[in-house]
Amino acid sequence: MNILIVGSGGREHALAWKITQSPRADHVFVAPGNAGTDYDGENVDIQPADFPTLIKFAKENQVGLTVVGPEAPLAAGIVDAFEAEGLRAFGPSRAAAELEASKVFCKDLLRHADVPSADYHSFANPNEAQKYLDDREDVPVVVKADGLAAGKGVVVCSGRDEALRAVEHIARQKAFGEAGNRLVIEERLDGQEVSVLAITDGRTIITLQPAQDHKAAFDDGKGPNTGGMGAYCPAPLVDDEMLHWIEEHVLVPTVHAMKRLRRPFRGVLYAGLMITKQGPKVLEYNVRFGDPECQPLLMRLKTDLLDVLEATIDGRLEEIGPLEWDARPAVCVVMASQGYPGHYTKGHPIRGLVDADALPDVKIFHAGTAMQNGEVVTAGGRVLNVTALGDSIAKAKLNAYRAVKCIRWPGAWCRKDISNKALV
Ligand code: AMP
Ligand code: GLY
Repeated sequence: MNILIVGSGGREHALAWKITQSPRADHVFVAPGNAGTDYDGENVDIQPADFPTLIKFAKENQVGLTVVGPEAPLAAGIVDAFEAEGLRAFGPSRAAAELEASKVFCKDLLRHADVPSADYHSFANPNEAQKYLDDREDVPVVVKADGLAAGKGVVVCSGRDEALRAVEHIARQKAFGEAGNRLVIEERLDGQEVSVLAITDGRTIITLQPAQDHKAAFDDGKGPNTGGMGAYCPAPLVDDEMLHWIEEHVLVPTVHAMKRLRRPFRGVLYAGLMITKQGPKVLEYNVRFGDPECQPLLMRLKTDLLDVLEATIDGRLEEIGPLEWDARPAVCVVMASQGYPGHYTKGHPIRGLVDADALPDVKIFHAGTAMQNGEVVTAGGRVLNVTALGDSIAKAKLNAYRAVKCIRWPGAWCRKDISNKALV
């Protein structure tokens, strides 16, 4: 079978690498991909938002399955567009993707389904949001733009003044455009964050191993938020008992609520959770694989992913037995361009990739890379996702950083403390 993967980051490289290993996979195309996906698959120069051209390509190239990486095309209805043409695509429909695309929809659903989450109010009018903040106690809150804002639409505030400024920024200055037409203001929670991803066909739920990412730019969780500077899996913070609790009290009621709303959820349901003193609470849902969590997850997954994705689309996930995992943990270190998450330059040739990739139990997933005159060059802020297995998290970390040491380009940097959260 030919497979088309939509997207261009480290997540999509990991998907291409894993799917290529399936004995049933013939050609794996990635649109538009990066230098790494062109190595493990074949790049196609089509943007994820260009549904008609993607559909035409899928038809002309006998693509039996399309796998969508990022949230934007899902929220814009790529799966509905493919299905309308009789093509199979993995991911939620537009209506189901609202779970990530609208924080108001998500919070309302969580409340109705009695899933633990922060207390909140939603507002369509900035005056009302400001009045609400003025009228209540001056406590830490989180202000969120309703819509998709590339991970930037959330402001964690220590008090009222900061929250008022966030409302101004999001809802009046429209820093994220229409995403700020509505707002959520919620209670600020304390604890460690963890990502629990599950694959569901709308009836059966297969929970993946828990993972943790590192969103802050610098060591010890300092500096601005990024798309993720590293991740590891499993996260010892979530033991089997807690994972089971999360399944029962978070994932199952959510999937049922989506079904009741006639928005059956098919695809990856990613719960971003805060482990508070009162137990796990949902911070947000994503409707796709996490990036970079996907990279260590897939490095450990032994089951044929293609079988799982197809069974999901066909509504027969119950036929897939328990997933098989490599018992060894995996750690993924993101190597970034100088200046990221602010301004950075591109086009620097990357050295040492072959040596790094040749190390045992190491895989270099590409994120922001491109081919230029036969050389792999930097083409984004997050450039490489150096991922390694090891007999313990400490050993996986050592293996990943050993590979990092082989790789060079001017201005390359990474956090030095990925997975330390698991070691204390
Ligand atoms: P979200 O996109 O809703 O996950 O928010 C992005 C990040 O903001 C999360 O990963 C948390 O670090 C933080 N965050 C979101 N909601 C809360 C909350 N209620 N309390 C504390 N931190 C939060
Ligand atoms: N790692 C966070 C995300 O994928 O949204």
